[in-house]
Amino acid sequence: MTRLVGFKHEDAGAPPSYSEGYQSTRLRAPSKPLIRTPTTLTEVTGPTDGWEGLMGGAMADLTTQHAGMPQGQRIIVSGRVLDEDGRPAPNTVMEIWQANAAGRYIHIDDSWDAPHDPNFTGAGRVITDAQGRYRYVTIRPGCYPWGNHYNAWRPGHIHLSLMGPSFASRLVTQMYFPDDPLIEIDPIANAVPMPYRQRMVSRFDIETTEPNYGLGYLFDVVLRGREATPFEDDHDKDHH
Ligand SMILES: [Fe+2]
Repeated sequence: MTRLVGFKHEDAGAPPSYSEGYQSTRLRAPSKPLIRTPTTLTEVTGPTDGWEGLMGGAMADLTTQHAGMPQGQRIIVSGRVLDEDGRPAPNTVMEIWQANAAGRYIHIDDSWDAPHDPNFTGAGRVITDAQGRYRYVTIRPGCYPWGNHYNAWRPGHIHLSLMGPSFASRLVTQMYFPDDPLIEIDPIANAVPMPYRQRMVSRFDIETTEPNYGLGYLFDVVLRGREATPFEDDHDKDHH
């Protein structure tokens, strides 16, 4: 009982390995032509009962993982994961990681002078349903400075990893917020050319918003094809 899936990494709008304004790509972008390795059974298969048995159940509410509520604006993020033909991608694991409301990660290497929040870890996980839908609750992440250039600040963003039916079908991207002025001057977001960049920006939605609870944002992820969400390449392993 194995499921075979094919891979294609040349989707429109995918950020290049080297992007002029994004300093760390200068060191890590391949300087020689890539060598294609054949995909074997190990890469194209995965657990036939889905990921839940391996990873545990959903962690769909990042605001209730501790004794108290985290600081910040509570938000609800919802959407669908789709393939290139608009068909839902069910049973897709979406892992979520983000900074707290002050822009601070719980990561040990994050030394930016903003407070940790004892009520916020910043990690979650959801699995899409039969219609490819997901929903999670979190707080809106703050912006943080980084060393790319003088006065560089990342727009607020949520990191996402999507795991399909096989071990090699992991895709990584970032979700931004529609009212954020930092997006247009951010070298990471700008590594993705327009109009593809817009696919990484969520949309405020009053229907997803819940009265007296939290603001709703919609974010659909398209795994590949002409409408694909721009995903980070394999070399993009730092945590910015
Ligand atoms: Fe980040």
